[in-house]
Amino acid sequence: MSNASLHQKCASPLRTLAPADELEGPASPKARFWDRIAVQYAADPIADMAGYEFTLRQVEDLLTADQDVLEIGCGTGTTALRLAPFTRRLLATDVSARMIAIAREKLAAQPVPQLSFALADAEEPVAAPGEFDALLAFNLLHLVTDLDRALQQAVLALRPGGMLISKTACVAEMNPLIRYLAVPVMQALGKAPRVLCFDADALQVAMARQGLNIVSVERHGTRGKDFRVFIVARKPT
Ligand SMILES: C[S@@+](CC[C@H](N)C(=O)[O-])C[C@H]1O[C@@H](n2cnc3c(N)ncnc32)[C@H](O)[C@@H]1O
Repeated sequence: MSNASLHQKCASPLRTLAPADELEGPASPKARFWDRIAVQYAADPIADMAGYEFTLRQVEDLLTADQDVLEIGCGTGTTALRLAPFTRRLLATDVSARMIAIAREKLAAQPVPQLSFALADAEEPVAAPGEFDALLAFNLLHLVTDLDRALQQAVLALRPGGMLISKTACVAEMNPLIRYLAVPVMQALGKAPRVLCFDADALQVAMARQGLNIVSVERHGTRGKDFRVFIVARKPT
């Protein structure tokens, strides 16, 4: 398995950035892997472009121009740049200063008035309680340290009736050879991040534990078995 299977990108090389510490102060230990691969991540092609475009269309249909939207784990901002025009305001955040630096470069080159980027850990308070109408988490929830804590912070940031939209890998659904052999080997080599191991049912149970109501559960992959689940959930009014 390649690293692509965990975060849907494949490798390619490129330019360099300043050390992450010089960007926004000392890097969080959680950011180290992502700071290291940020330049490569920005340049990699999206592994399943048709599946990605399908997801974007679904999300565009859910967003409206009167919504304030928070994205957590936005990476280099590709998705935020696409979705911000469908919102009143999109604040896209990530724990990696290098990811955010690249996202800001892209925004400077392609300005979108609704969009801004900020450095933030999704497991800590990111926003004022109830500040956002919708919260986006793409390819993130299997990568946080504490899923319950990340979901708790997401729910806090949402207004009553607000929407959580997540697409994330369900590592527990992968072939055992990948889970128990390929992933640990890649992690040992520093080529894969630490991952949480849950399936789609467990993720829904975790969302329900934080009081979210599941609205829909879909799979958007267009290549073979899709182990990433797309879930829309709502905070009760
Ligand atoms: C696989 S990338 C996904 C990026 C983007 N959402 C996408 O779909 O391309 C995971 C991102 O989550 C970020 N990340 C990991 N743990 C995080 C956390 N606790 N809080 C915020 N961002 C985090 C990483 O820095 C990385 O940019």
